[in-house]
Amino acid sequence: MSANIASFLYLISGILFILALRGLSHPTTSRQGNFYGMIGMGIAIVTTLLLALPSFEGLVLIVVGLAIGGTVGAVVARRIAMTSMPQLVAAFHSLVGLAAVMIAAAAMYSPDSFGIIDNGHIHAQALVEMSLGVAIGAITFTGSVIAFLKLDGRMSGKPILLPMRHMVNLALAAALVVLIVMLVSVESTFIFWLIVLVSLALGVLLIIPIGGADMPVVVSMLNSYSGWAAAALGFTLGNLALIITGALVGSSGAILSYIMCKGMNRSFISVILGGFGGETAAAVDDGVQRTVKTGAADDAAYLMMNAQKVIIVPGYGMAVAQAQHALRELADKLKANGVEVKYAIHPVAGRMPGHMNVLLAEANVPYDEVFELEDINSEFAQADVAYVIGANDVTNPAARDDKSSPIYGMPILDVDKARTCLFVKRSLGSGYAGIDNTLFYKDGTMMLLGDAKKMTEDIVKAMDH
Ligand code: TAP
Repeated sequence: MSANIASFLYLISGILFILALRGLSHPTTSRQGNFYGMIGMGIAIVTTLLLALPSFEGLVLIVVGLAIGGTVGAVVARRIAMTSMPQLVAAFHSLVGLAAVMIAAAAMYSPDSFGIIDNGHIHAQALVEMSLGVAIGAITFTGSVIAFLKLDGRMSGKPILLPMRHMVNLALAAALVVLIVMLVSVESTFIFWLIVLVSLALGVLLIIPIGGADMPVVVSMLNSYSGWAAAALGFTLGNLALIITGALVGSSGAILSYIMCKGMNRSFISVILGGFGGETAAAVDDGVQRTVKTGAADDAAYLMMNAQKVIIVPGYGMAVAQAQHALRELADKLKANGVEVKYAIHPVAGRMPGHMNVLLAEANVPYDEVFELEDINSEFAQADVAYVIGANDVTNPAARDDKSSPIYGMPILDVDKARTCLFVKRSLGSGYAGIDNTLFYKDGTMMLLGDAKKMTEDIVKAMDH
């Protein structure tokens, strides 16, 4: 295949990747977006194979690699629970980082096959690209492994704050720059592996101080890093598709991290510096006697069936309990009874962007009943019932009223403005941020203590009586 035709096909796959990102930005078009992404990737893989025309042995190796990787990926993706998606993404990113290190090592040891040699030496430009790719790749690798371990509960989610960590990180970053300059001037494999070692250490040290609550932002940030590593290596390999894809992954990951930080009212810098999320779930202890009104499924069924407007607020607990289908049934019953039902989604409800939208879509909740925070927040004041199912932090008024709260300034859903607030959760325990929610003790609140799915099913049954 000629280089011109290959460039044209890579351009087509690049356009398909852009259409994929655009499609994935809304639930109604997300399937189509996925489809564009798959076609784009298919075209990129076939074009690369036809362009390189590997030997028979090479082709066999590639096909075997694709078969093993593809099978493992497909099996893992089918089996994974929705709630474990962030750690799966982190695990997959670690492989992207590792791949970047391997490709750079291959280019270092066999520059001839990569066409980056001039007068017996590797081009300076290729050395810069390789060292950037390998450094970002190695940081992404160990950083993603730590993110995986924290998210999967195999390592404590609490920040690990080493003494003088900022100084140590700065010293390592400076050493990295010096090593890259040395590699470009002396082209030594020893320095290459030193860059790998320092970057691996930096990946661990950068991520261990970051608390579990900020980890999804970190995963998206590492996603962005892996994109930039791929783009840097795309230049070394002279592969247009890799440059385009890397840049798209790099920039979309960065934008997503920004959106998540905004949703949590955290600055990007404070996330990277770490330390947030180590607080234990402290109950409010200000000497004031607090009473909690608890209710049963029958009470909730009565209140909702006699309401004119119910706004449902799903959160992480709904995902854990897999209560979305029962919730849809509950909404159907209400609508059949003439009650207006809407869903309010906070931008960081659950544990990953779009978590709630995906679950509601899975239960065939109509998209036009699902609203984002800024579009529905003013409606709580006219709602008779806010049915908060497994959500906690995203409703906590401390974010609005308590300047000393760690989540102060985070936008919240104003469920306390509804006439009655029904809270479904198993205890009075805190959410991800580890902060007590004063809403549990308010007059208009009724706690429905129990598993989100079981409680919702019981309410549906009670509605039939
Ligand atoms: P959380 O504040 O984490 O609260 C979830 C609540 O669900 C918990 O308090 C828990 O209370 C309850 N729960 C757990 N399992 C349950 C079950 N089986 N049945 C019923 N309830 C159950 O969730 P949220 O309101 O969705 O807020 C999300 C949090 O994650 C925020 O702090 C946000 O900043 C953080 N975060 C989100 C993202 C993204 S992108 N979504 C990214 C980073 C961080 P019990 O134990 O009492 O049942």
